[in-house]
Amino acid sequence: MCLDINSLLRNQMKPAVIELPKFTDPRGNLSFVEQLNHIPFEIKRTYWIYDVPGGEARGGHAFKQNEEFIIALSGAFDVIVDDGNKKTKYTLNRSYYGLYVPAGLWREIENFSTNSLALEFGSTHYNVNDYIRDYDEFIKMKRNGEI
Ligand code: TYD
Repeated sequence: MCLDINSLLRNQMKPAVIELPKFTDPRGNLSFVEQLNHIPFEIKRTYWIYDVPGGEARGGHAFKQNEEFIIALSGAFDVIVDDGNKKTKYTLNRSYYGLYVPAGLWREIENFSTNSLALEFGSTHYNVNDYIRDYDEFIKMKRNGEI
C-alpha cells in the first residue's frame, strides 16, 4: 500500500523535522504552513511560548491524544522527545523548520535562547485530562500499551 507523507508520518508514530516552504526576498523572507499538508493533522489549537528567560525549560509531559507541530519562530530551543526507551534531541533554530511530535511521547523543551518564540499547533483542543505529567506513569502506560 502506498501512503502519502502524512499517513506515513502518522502510521510510523515517529517525530520528524519538516522543512517548510521559504520564499527568500530582499524585503524579508516568508514561510507558511498548511494543515494536512506540511502539518500532518487538522489544527484545533495554536499557542505560543514567549518571554522565556534564557536557559529555561518547559513542558515535561506527554499527551495521550494530542499531536504537536512546533516551530522556533524566533531564537532557538531544544525539544527532547522520549519514547520510553530512547531520548532524541531536536534543536530548532530556524523559522522554516517544524517538528512533528506524535501523541504518546514524553517531551520537554529546554535551553531556550533569550527572546525565543515557540509556536505550537495541536491536533486537539486544550484538555487537562490529555496530559500525563508523571514520568513513572508515562512509562507504565507505555509498557501496558495504553499509549
Ligand atoms: P502547560 O501545557 O502546562 O505548559 P508547560 O507544560 O510548558 O508547563 O500550560 C501552562 C498553562 O497554560 C496550564 O495551566 C494550562 C494553560 N493552557 C491552556 O489553557 N490552553 C492551552 O492550550 C495550553 C497549551 C495551556
